[in-house]
Amino acid sequence: MARKKILVTGGAGFIGGNFVQFIVNKYPNYDIYNLDLLTYAGDLTKHKQIEEKKNYTFIKADISDRKFIIELFKKEEFDYVIHFAAESHVDRSIKDPGIFIETNVTGTQVLLDASKEVGVTKFVHVSTDEVYGELDFDPSTFFTEETPIQPNSPYSASKASSDLLVRAYHETYGLPVNITRCSNNYGPYHFPEKLIPLTISRVLNDQKVPVYGDGKNIRDWLHVIDHCAAIDLVMHKGENGEVYNVGGHNERTNLEVVQTIIKELDKSDDLIEFVKDRLGHDKRYAIDPTKLEELGWEPIYTFDTGIAQTIRWYLDNKEWWEQIINGDYRDYFKAQYTTV
Ligand code: NAD
Ligand code: DAU
Repeated sequence: MARKKILVTGGAGFIGGNFVQFIVNKYPNYDIYNLDLLTYAGDLTKHKQIEEKKNYTFIKADISDRKFIIELFKKEEFDYVIHFAAESHVDRSIKDPGIFIETNVTGTQVLLDASKEVGVTKFVHVSTDEVYGELDFDPSTFFTEETPIQPNSPYSASKASSDLLVRAYHETYGLPVNITRCSNNYGPYHFPEKLIPLTISRVLNDQKVPVYGDGKNIRDWLHVIDHCAAIDLVMHKGENGEVYNVGGHNERTNLEVVQTIIKELDKSDDLIEFVKDRLGHDKRYAIDPTKLEELGWEPIYTFDTGIAQTIRWYLDNKEWWEQIINGDYRDYFKAQYTTV
C-alpha cells in the first residue's frame, strides 16, 4: 500500500486522541500529523506511547489561523483530513458561544479552503447527532441521515453550520467529503467535564454528582473505539458527499448512567444531587445506524462491557484525570455548579 499523509485535527482531545493512537498503530505506512491548539481540552501526555514513532508528528496550531493552515497544506499536501478539532462542551457554549463560532465554523471553513486548494483525496468532518435537535421519549423514533437539522444549543448550532459548509464545498466545488454524526462517546481520556468521566471521578472521591433536572433525559452512548472504527471505515469506503450516522443503540437516562457507575464502584445513590436543569436541555438522542452498518460497521462494545472497561481505565489512570481536576478545571466546576 502506498504511503499516505493523514492530517488529524484535534488529536490531543478525547476522540481525536483515541483516533490518532488507533491509526498510528493500525497503519504504519500512513504518516499521521496531529494538529491541535492544546486548549483546556487538549493534552499530549496521552500520546507518550506513540510520540517516538516514525509515522507520528505533532503540530501546535489554530485551525482558524488561515495563513498558517494554507501554507501547511501547500507544504505537506495531505491526502486525508480527519477533522475533530472543536469546542465540544454544551454547557460552555451556553455561557460563552463566541469561541464556538470561531473554532467550529470559521476553523472548519479555513480547513475546507486549504483542502480545496491542494485537492485532498477525502475530507472527513466529524460531527454530532446534536445537529438534529431532540427526539421525544417515543422509543420507536430515531435520527436518520434524512432527519432535518434543528440544533438547539449554541454548540450544536455551530456544528450544524460547519456541516452545511462541508456539504456546500462538496456541492459547489466537488470537494470529496463525508460527514459523520455520532451519538455520545465515552471511554479512556474523556475530559471530566462530561457526564460519565465527571461521575466516575467524583464517585471515586466520594463527592456529590450533579444531575440536571429530573435525570430523565436520554443519551445514546457509544464507546470511543467503536467511533474510531466507524471513522476509519468512512475514510476508506464512504461514498463522497454522504452523511453517516454512528451509534450502537445504547439508550440510557442520565440517572441510569449515574446509578450504573455508582453500583459498579460499590458506592451509595446518596451521592446523587439533582441540580438546576441545563438551559434548552435536549430530551432524547437516539441514532439509526443502518446506513453505516450497510457499509460494514459493527460495534464491539455493549454499554455494559464498555462502561466496565471505562471505569477500570479511570481506576488505573488516576494521575491523568487528577492532574486535570486539580488544575484550572476547579474554577470551571465552581462557576458551573454553584450549589454542589
Ligand atoms: P474535545 O473537547 O475532547 O477535544 C477537542 C480538541 O480540539 C482539543 O484537543 C482541543 O485542544 C482542540 N482544539 C480546540 N480548538 C482548536 C483550534 N482552534 N485549533 C486546533 N485545535 C483545537 O472534543 P471531543 O469530545 O474529542 O470531540 C471531538 C469532535 O467530535 C468534535 O468535533 C465534536 O463535535 C465531535 N463529537 C463529539 C462527541 C462526544 O461525545 N464527545 C460525539 C459526537 C461528535
Ligand atoms: O451527542 C453527542 C454529543 O455528546 C457531542 O456532540 C458533545 O460534544 C458531547 O459533549 C456530548 O454532549 P452532551 O451534552 O450530551 O454530553 P454531556 O456529557 O455534557 O451531558 C450528557 C447528559 O448528562 C446531558 O443530558 C446533560 C447531563 N448532565 C451533564 C453534566 C455535565 C448532567 O445531568 N449533569 C452534568 O453535570
